[in-house]
Amino acid sequence: MNFIKVDSYEKMSNLAADIIADVVKNKSNAVLGLATGSSPLGTYARLIEKYNRGELDFKEVTSVNLDEYVGLDGSNDQSYRYFMNKNLFQYININIEKTFVPNGCVEDLDAEGESYDKMIEDLGGTDIQLLGIGLDGHIGFNEPDEFFTKETHVVKLDESTIEANSRFFQSKDEVPKQAITMGMYSIMQAKKVLLIANGKNKKEIVEKAFFGPITPMVPASILQLHKDVTVIYSEN
Ligand code: GLP
Repeated sequence: MNFIKVDSYEKMSNLAADIIADVVKNKSNAVLGLATGSSPLGTYARLIEKYNRGELDFKEVTSVNLDEYVGLDGSNDQSYRYFMNKNLFQYININIEKTFVPNGCVEDLDAEGESYDKMIEDLGGTDIQLLGIGLDGHIGFNEPDEFFTKETHVVKLDESTIEANSRFFQSKDEVPKQAITMGMYSIMQAKKVLLIANGKNKKEIVEKAFFGPITPMVPASILQLHKDVTVIYSEN
């Protein structure tokens, strides 16, 4: 594992964007596993700058996102599809038809999970998976549990996750109680994993996840088993 500590969100974002940019430069049809949350916002802003400077071309790139809230469609400004369009896709030349986010609005969510995994498999997996980490150690929306879940699946969000994510909603009651998330198989098959975390409040969970025992009670700890993982942590 490559654990990099930096002292600012900006440095974290610059480094993360450089790593993703290298993947795209080396493979024009790269498959990018993308994440939402406040952690990757700076990374996306740097990628947009690189694109604007003509350093990057996303024309042949495909993206697959980790997760989506159940019940929110892409027109809802709290949905993760909306987040991706707003914070990245609208500014770059990625083909929107090749940007995938699980659909949390279909009736048969199990079938959606199955076809999402098959789609990732058919793409040959992701070349890089960008991840944030929740305060309880979740990646995507894989919450602490007694076991790791392999497939893309529906999860009931933990109270602490609902609380943490309520900052993006008008009130806590508006936060969906369920989400659909990529499981550990699709995350772990990424050729490279890049996890970014910032803030003093993430320090303890980052230490647990990367220097503690591998346990489904700290879902991100499974990444210790991945052969190419970079963690960038900024205390500020
Ligand atoms: C959400 C997302 C995760 C993300 C986490 C941390 O719950 N499902 O993918 O990593 O929040 O978010 P933030 O980066 O805002 O701390």
